[in-house]
Amino acid sequence: MVETVRTIPELRAALKRWRQQGETVGLVPTMGALHEGHLSLVRHARAKTMRTCVTLFVNPKQFGPGEDLDSYPRDAADDMAKLEAEGADLLFQPGPEEVYPTGFATSVHVDGLGDILEGEHRPGFFTGVATVVTKLLVQALPDIAVFGEKDYQQSLVIRRLTRDLDIPVRIEAVPIVRETDGLAMSSRNAYLKADERTIAPVLFGTLSQVAENVGRGVNVAEQSEWGMDQLLRAGFASVDYLNVRDAETLDEVTDVSRPARVLAAATLGTTRLIDNVSV
Ligand code: PAJ
Repeated sequence: MVETVRTIPELRAALKRWRQQGETVGLVPTMGALHEGHLSLVRHARAKTMRTCVTLFVNPKQFGPGEDLDSYPRDAADDMAKLEAEGADLLFQPGPEEVYPTGFATSVHVDGLGDILEGEHRPGFFTGVATVVTKLLVQALPDIAVFGEKDYQQSLVIRRLTRDLDIPVRIEAVPIVRETDGLAMSSRNAYLKADERTIAPVLFGTLSQVAENVGRGVNVAEQSEWGMDQLLRAGFASVDYLNVRDAETLDEVTDVSRPARVLAAATLGTTRLIDNVSV
């Protein structure tokens, strides 16, 4: 069994033991319902550091009213088996009271980067993410913390906050793990009905096509329009955004003279999917 701790003092005690032996620590924050995408982060941490600590906390502060906090997939036994198989060293699985005790009043907001794209369509989302990730980083003070490019904007928001708040950790971002048909793995894919599941890979297909076209010099605005239209025609109910952005700042771009990223969020049935592809 992977050693599991549920309180911050226990987490700190376990990490202190390793620190005293001169061992480096990698942190992998998750909300559980673990799949190959999460496990690739664990493998990355294991390859880069001597000890890997995975955190599992379904963070209420990053769910908006009417979002899926209560129905978010949870399978602790399956998560534990997967972490065991990957050779993770420690699981930190706090309850809500441990993370947000009565009277908790502080939040972390990343201006600009946290307000656009996902931030615009899910108000409060990045404040919830930034607040909990700041806490986890300060609790564990790992050498590296590993995030997935699946949530590309999230990884940039976290990198920004560690710089701004002088948290001495290296943020590493790992490429997206996909199903064989291209759909980016996500805990929320479990919500897709069978017919929706056959349509879902069109998101990656469209983003890839847009990336290739703008890479060849086709007009960025025109391609964004084309991509949105493709998704709606394929059967997506709505598209929150499909944009080509600067890969570092997520500023809008009119050409791809610098590294760029195509990012989208679209809803299929009642399931909101996000994905992104580099140009
Ligand atoms: P969660 O959605 O559980 O994702 C945990 C980590 O796994 C994130 O860094 C995410 O980008 C990464 N990930 C998810 N699917 C992936 C895939 N298909 N390929 C590669 N990486 C993937 O993201 C969160 O949780 C939360 O916001 C969290 C950072 C834990 C803060 O609560």
